[in-house]
Amino acid sequence: MARLLVCPPDYFGIEYEINPWMRISNAADPTRSRQQWHTLMRVLEEEVGAKLERMPPAPGLPDLVFTANAGVVHEGKAVLSRFRHPERQREEAHFERWFTKQGYQVIRLDPECYFEGAGDLLGFPHIWFGGYRQRSDIRAYTVLSEIFGKEILPLELISPKFYHLDTCFCPLSGGELLYYPPAFDSYAQTTIATHVDSEQRIVVPQAEAERFACNAVCVDRHVVLPAGCPETMKLLREHGYEPHPVELDEFMKAGGAAKCLTLRLE
Ligand code: ARG
Repeated sequence: MARLLVCPPDYFGIEYEINPWMRISNAADPTRSRQQWHTLMRVLEEEVGAKLERMPPAPGLPDLVFTANAGVVHEGKAVLSRFRHPERQREEAHFERWFTKQGYQVIRLDPECYFEGAGDLLGFPHIWFGGYRQRSDIRAYTVLSEIFGKEILPLELISPKFYHLDTCFCPLSGGELLYYPPAFDSYAQTTIATHVDSEQRIVVPQAEAERFACNAVCVDRHVVLPAGCPETMKLLREHGYEPHPVELDEFMKAGGAAKCLTLRLE
């Protein structure tokens, strides 16, 4: 059973601007944010069968809802994120406390080496990919590869709108990859093409990539994705997946959607 860490949006809001989606003048509506988050949780629990672990929210940490950025968890180890922006560094202690309380072996990286958790590190069972340049540093992946005993292929992210790997890259349970190639430099595009067969690469159209179509949660044959991505839903169905669209535009104001709001605990 998939276990996911989530954090309720009690203190969610747009209080600073650290990516091109965020504008302080474009405030999030607290009632709608809460409704959208609860719908996402209901879909994950009831339609997808995921088990949710809820972390307490904290005032003054408006992005704490994006638990994908807590760190990366694998085989009892939790490598904590080291955020690039000071605004989000304040979340680190909060995530550390939660991992410690749950009994994970908590590992911290060198504070000079930025790494934004499962927002930038994603993969298939046999190979992982690490997004870098905008948030995480490429050298984090050498260290992480040793910690987890996994091959990690770094992928350079070149478009400010797609600043985390999970905004443009979503490995699916059957080995397919849902992704948006223009978010990557040409070397990264070649790396992806070398490691994922062409019939397994599902390319999302630009308009839907910009509606966070790739920021999806895949559990078995279920894919939970933001509403407003009909072409992506069609592509997923053609590959045997069942898409579950959820309205998440309040969170897009902060630059995130379904996947960012969860952290896979296995
Ligand atoms: N406002 C947050 C930031 O810019 C959004 C994080 C979204 N998380 C993600 N995994 N893509 O850091």
